[in-house]
Amino acid sequence: MPVLEIKARAKLNLTLDVLGRRPDGFHDLRMVMQSVELCDTIRLETGTGRPLRMTSNLGFLPCNEKNLAAAAALRLMEAVGADCGGLAIDLKKRVPVCAGMAGGSADAAAVLRGLNALLGLGLSRERLEEIGAQVGSDVPYCVRGGTVLAEGRGERLTDLPCLPECHAVLCKPGFSISTPELFGRIDAVRLRCRPDTAGLLSALRAGDLSGVARRMYNVFENVLPPRRGAEVTAIKRVLIQHGALGASMSGTGPTVFGLFDSREAAQRAYAELRENHRESFLTEIAGPEQL
Ligand code: C5P
Repeated sequence: MPVLEIKARAKLNLTLDVLGRRPDGFHDLRMVMQSVELCDTIRLETGTGRPLRMTSNLGFLPCNEKNLAAAAALRLMEAVGADCGGLAIDLKKRVPVCAGMAGGSADAAAVLRGLNALLGLGLSRERLEEIGAQVGSDVPYCVRGGTVLAEGRGERLTDLPCLPECHAVLCKPGFSISTPELFGRIDAVRLRCRPDTAGLLSALRAGDLSGVARRMYNVFENVLPPRRGAEVTAIKRVLIQHGALGASMSGTGPTVFGLFDSREAAQRAYAELRENHRESFLTEIAGPEQL
């Protein structure tokens, strides 16, 4: 039976700005997204002759349509009216869950790209992104990958020059905050500090890594409860002390990351953070997904 194994890469937000609340309850965003090599692995098998079956290495994850990977498969089949004669999805999760790194959206995007290839559907990347938008706001970006400006709900994508080669140290503190709650907190305040997205885009065009890293900023850091904010600040301090060119929180958090031009410095930051934070990673920047 046809089988394909595919990577589902995590993303970082180099910037995240919330422009306002929309009539549909979502928010207009402006974000510079970057994919990294840290990834989940998804094994797809079609023609199993049985209804959709999903398994995962994490017992607490749902293995039905509540999981974005399964939801994406069902949405794709519905959209193209295809029947793959039974499907099995096996998910090996490495990207932290509920961490602001679009792990679930990356899984969904990988299923869309994988089934498109496995079943020879011949759908364009744009069509896959459209279908992805019906599964979750970050899925269109995850279909594409690389360095991208995402606007609107997250579905309006503009390719950007690749981030210059660098190393990323990621650290997820031991708390989680619900995404809707954080958006609610943003609605309740007047943001005084916003990312310099235009400046960051100019630095990207100039291939100026420290210019990019210096301008990384996420408005959600403004609205974390004070103790949580202090944890994020403490992790950023460790990253900067070890030579990170810049550090920020990703998505709605709580993962914090730093960018380094030196592998040795990144290794030292990673070693220190790992002592207190189990979910710490040293990874590399990734380019656009190859369909
Ligand atoms: O689309 P997704 O399911 O990933 O969104 C999760 C939640 O994040 C939404 O229910 C909404 O509260 C919030 N969200 C938003 N505006 C966006 C994206 C997400 O308000 N552009």
